[in-house]
Amino acid sequence: MRGESVEIGRLREAAFKGELSDLEGEVYRRFGVDLSACYLDLELKNPVILAPGPLSQRVSQIERACRAGYGAIVLKSVVGEDEHGNASMSFLRRKPSFMKWYIDREVDPEGRYPTIHWNGGLDTRRFPEYLEFAEKAYDVGERFNVPLIASILCHLVSDPDEEWNVDEWIYTVERMCEIGYRYFEIDFCPFLKGERRAEDKETVLRWYREAPKIIREAPYDVKVIPKILNLDFGLDFQVEMVKAAFDGGSDGVTIANRLYRTFREGGSGRVYGSSHGGLELKRRNQEQIRELRRRSINIPISATGGVYTGRDIIEYLNLGSQNVQVLTYIMMSGFERALYNLLLDPRDGVVAVLIQE
Ligand SMILES: Cc1cc2nc3c(=O)[nH]c(=O)nc-3n(C[C@H](O)[C@H](O)[C@H](O)COP(=O)(O)O)c2cc1C
Repeated sequence: MRGESVEIGRLREAAFKGELSDLEGEVYRRFGVDLSACYLDLELKNPVILAPGPLSQRVSQIERACRAGYGAIVLKSVVGEDEHGNASMSFLRRKPSFMKWYIDREVDPEGRYPTIHWNGGLDTRRFPEYLEFAEKAYDVGERFNVPLIASILCHLVSDPDEEWNVDEWIYTVERMCEIGYRYFEIDFCPFLKGERRAEDKETVLRWYREAPKIIREAPYDVKVIPKILNLDFGLDFQVEMVKAAFDGGSDGVTIANRLYRTFREGGSGRVYGSSHGGLELKRRNQEQIRELRRRSINIPISATGGVYTGRDIIEYLNLGSQNVQVLTYIMMSGFERALYNLLLDPRDGVVAVLIQE
């Protein structure tokens, strides 16, 4: 193993220097390790997906992630509109007024796994402006052969009887399809948890059961992947949301969005409604995936939350996830360093862990 560690380290150096044109091919030739993965029927060269957030909202970022070699990219989530520009969820187009790195010394005494607490929402642009970005981004993905996945949120009903504003969903999906997108995550954003409409379990289950069906009314062959909320109703309800998504014809689910809590800032003592990931999110999300498998609910899963090392990736893959979506660690380390550490760290990277197994 020692000789192999040195060789993996060398490969990582070569990747940092931009000297590896085919990282996955080189890994296979040298170590017999196949890094390929999938996202539904899409083939990915490796399982690391850039998750939706502040690193996937500019064309230059998409290009940098493609050059670095991510398996796929999910765009920053957009609030959809109908053809007249109406957007009932526009209150979620909000800039963060608060973003703070935080280390929980109780679970992370060495401070290796910081989390970001923030109170921002979905992309702040109106849909026409966002579409211009999404179109250029899609072309970049095509050029580098990296799949691009859309992430949207449109009207959500507030009680068990309200009717859906279907036009917002259809118009948004159609416009995105026209510029090439076919894979749609639905961002059930953690900030919905602060909303009264997320307090009623039946209403939440309606979202998961009915929104995928509405998206399918668009005249394109699309795949729908709702992101599961992390609510406080317990593990059974987390499973219920996935089952509702499955009943609604979802092609897969992303498990699961960040935790929403209040956060007290040290000095000023101000309290913010904030969302965060980290080790606690990883523990929760893995528990959910394990429970789904235990109950033989075999819907395809894209996993997200608290991936800082290749070991975390292997844990999620061993639980049956198809891939992982990463954000915090990339914000900490940069596009290139994060990806090459995740895959090629000589101790904790995916390749090293697979060789040790
Ligand atoms: C600043 C920030 C913005 C985010 N924005 C979105 C978003 O627009 N849509 C979404 O589905 N998830 C969003 N997320 C969640 C991430 O995509 C990811 O699922 C989550 O942070 C867990 O992964 P991590 O622990 O690697 O950060 C955001 C997260 C952060 C930290």
